[in-house]
Amino acid sequence: MTTLRDLHDLARGTLDPVRYDYVAGGAGEERVLTGNERAFDRYRLLPRVLSGGEARDTRVDLPGAPGAAPVVVAPTAFHRLMHEDGERATARAAAAEGAVLVTGVASTTAVADVVAAAHGRAAGAAVWFQLYAHPRAEVTRALVRRAEDAGCTGLVLTVDSPVFGRHTRDLRNGFTDLPPGYAAENMRDLPGAPPGALTDIPMSPSLTWPDIAALVRDTSLPVLLKGVLHPADALLAVEHGAAGVIVSNHGGRQSDAVPAAVDCLPAVAAAVAGRVPVLVDGGVRRGSDIAVALALGAAAVGVGRPVVWGLAAQGEAGVRAVLAALREDYDHTLALCGGRRNADLTRDMAVREDGTW
Ligand code: FNR
Repeated sequence: MTTLRDLHDLARGTLDPVRYDYVAGGAGEERVLTGNERAFDRYRLLPRVLSGGEARDTRVDLPGAPGAAPVVVAPTAFHRLMHEDGERATARAAAAEGAVLVTGVASTTAVADVVAAAHGRAAGAAVWFQLYAHPRAEVTRALVRRAEDAGCTGLVLTVDSPVFGRHTRDLRNGFTDLPPGYAAENMRDLPGAPPGALTDIPMSPSLTWPDIAALVRDTSLPVLLKGVLHPADALLAVEHGAAGVIVSNHGGRQSDAVPAAVDCLPAVAAAVAGRVPVLVDGGVRRGSDIAVALALGAAAVGVGRPVVWGLAAQGEAGVRAVLAALREDYDHTLALCGGRRNADLTRDMAVREDGTW
């Protein structure tokens, strides 16, 4: 049996230490990075008994992704730095495992090739495109068209990055640019983009809510907002047409002073009140973390670093191993909770370590 920890250790042994640090690290003193995992560790699950039934169904309907696994591959940058097969391998693995792949604008493979790889493994596999709002609106629009033309079924706009986080390890290691031979392929030949932007993903600090409404109007794809922590922002997201909200602190790579993502989830879920699906990412490492997140109101979880470790360790097979391990562990946890469907995990079942709410 291969665990996520085994794959992490394998990846660590395989990767150049600077690249390892790029993935493993976070902003500042890495308080939020470590806090995400610690927060999950403080939860326990209060099972129900004698609830009957053998077969379990853990699929969930997400925007542009009916019947998906409750584990989504979170967008992580530059996969060819980790394995030569890069984003194509991740895409094939996610498709094979029925997991939505969120492929990022910061990708060493063009989105059309990522979607083609996913569809080559499973026709109809859902791929969402994650982007940042570019300071030039025409570049953002061109990126959206690129994702639509590629066959993506959802857009994920990351809104926690008005400025880029200060990643201590990268700054110490001098890792502030892509190494020669790699490029952010989605930034190639974009109308309106300044030249020479192929290693740099500019972000707009001046984005506001009307821009969200405009983006929603400008595309036929569902738009999810990633990086929402405050319940008031979750409400605004719904009011401005978002099709989903992703509770995330960017895996501790942006602010080093925010709460753990899972600790922000209950208030966001209460504010959204079921109008759109709420997802959460940051620190999900085991099936019981998924069960806790679903009990606290998430429709699905995102997984970032473990997928990258799987990719670095074993390419496509490694990513599949990560996703399969999480799925099986979640299914087993659900059974032990007396549940047959995700909805059987209710708020009262997620308790603190001492059994209190
Ligand atoms: C990320 N993440 C991220 N998010 C995003 O919206 N756009 C991006 O380009 C990236 N890039 C990126 C690179 C690397 C190396 C990591 C580790 C993370 C954040 C990611 O989507 C997700 O929010 C976190 O990774 C979730 O936390 P865990 O699962 O890594 O603990």
